[in-house]
Amino acid sequence: MTDKNATEPSFLKETFTPAQSAVYIAHPDFLEALCAELQDVSAVVGNIVISPHKKRDICFAADVWLEPHLVHFESISEAVKILRRAGKYWFLNPIENVRRSRLIEAELKKLPDLNHRFPLKDEIPAIGCFSLLDKNTLIYSAKRWKKPPLGDYLFQEDKKNPPNRAYLKLWEALALLNHYPKPGDTAMDLGASPGGWSYVLQSLGAKVTAVDKAPLEQKIAALPLVSFLKQSAFALDPHTLENPIDWLLCDVACYPNRTLDLVQKWIASGKAKNMIITIKLQGDTDFEILEKFQAIPNARVIHLIQNKHEATFFYPAAPHLSPDFAGEI
Ligand SMILES: C[S@@+](CC[C@H](N)C(=O)[O-])C[C@H]1O[C@@H](n2cnc3c(N)ncnc32)[C@H](O)[C@@H]1O
Repeated sequence: MTDKNATEPSFLKETFTPAQSAVYIAHPDFLEALCAELQDVSAVVGNIVISPHKKRDICFAADVWLEPHLVHFESISEAVKILRRAGKYWFLNPIENVRRSRLIEAELKKLPDLNHRFPLKDEIPAIGCFSLLDKNTLIYSAKRWKKPPLGDYLFQEDKKNPPNRAYLKLWEALALLNHYPKPGDTAMDLGASPGGWSYVLQSLGAKVTAVDKAPLEQKIAALPLVSFLKQSAFALDPHTLENPIDWLLCDVACYPNRTLDLVQKWIASGKAKNMIITIKLQGDTDFEILEKFQAIPNARVIHLIQNKHEATFFYPAAPHLSPDFAGEI
């Protein structure tokens, strides 16, 4: 896979051809998983993984640089000129020659505030990303897959209302989907306790049925739009529902093959219009089981920044949930 030489920019210059290379950004804790998933990796520099494999159904990438350029530059002002010509806003991904990188950054247009409130009210403007690979080598891409740099929404946290930090995972999933439950929507939250996700759903005006064998935190159970069903998520038969629900969410802690059965059962029933489901991984990342989720037509599996050893299943998959290497989105 990756060898020691692969971290040398000179090696990179020889192997990197923008049209044939894809640039993936790894979350620091999931660099190994990303390389294992890509299989074919030509270089790793910091969190940047370069591969000839343009993988649209990539799970473990925090972001993908869609139009990467690798250029030689002599002076700070030359690098600034190159970036200014290529785009308006630039985010520095600092991996090498960080002081020099910061000098370039200081000359570029000030970025808009990157700390977002949930739900996002305004579109995040197009922001390119750049890194120095050595003193004179700049890698950059004006076009990227995810809206926020490094794929991280950096939400202003709500430390008061939700009972735990799981709400951040759902905030990220919904922001990425760019589609939110709206007032009057119906939702089922499987494995809901203590109630972080149910809190988010009701905060958007959805009527939530929270399902868990364990109770919700009291303040969540008392919310007017939340009702609680004390039972196993697996015992629910979607066919018994009179009408389809708008949102099926599941964060049940269980083996991934049980989650796969549950997902297949709900899709076959046609009783859930949108699904956001956590796939809890066990031990070594099981790519075989992930591939089974990925093989479901019109679905997408993404390791979110807020996911730990887990991934998130989206159904149906909106086109922007996948990196568009052809630049058509
Ligand atoms: C990670 S926690 C969910 C956190 C929740 N999403 C939140 O935002 O607070 C996993 C939950 O799955 C529940 N669980 C495990 N097996 C279950 C089952 N068979 N049916 C329903 N819930 C189950 C556990 O009781 C636990 O509350």
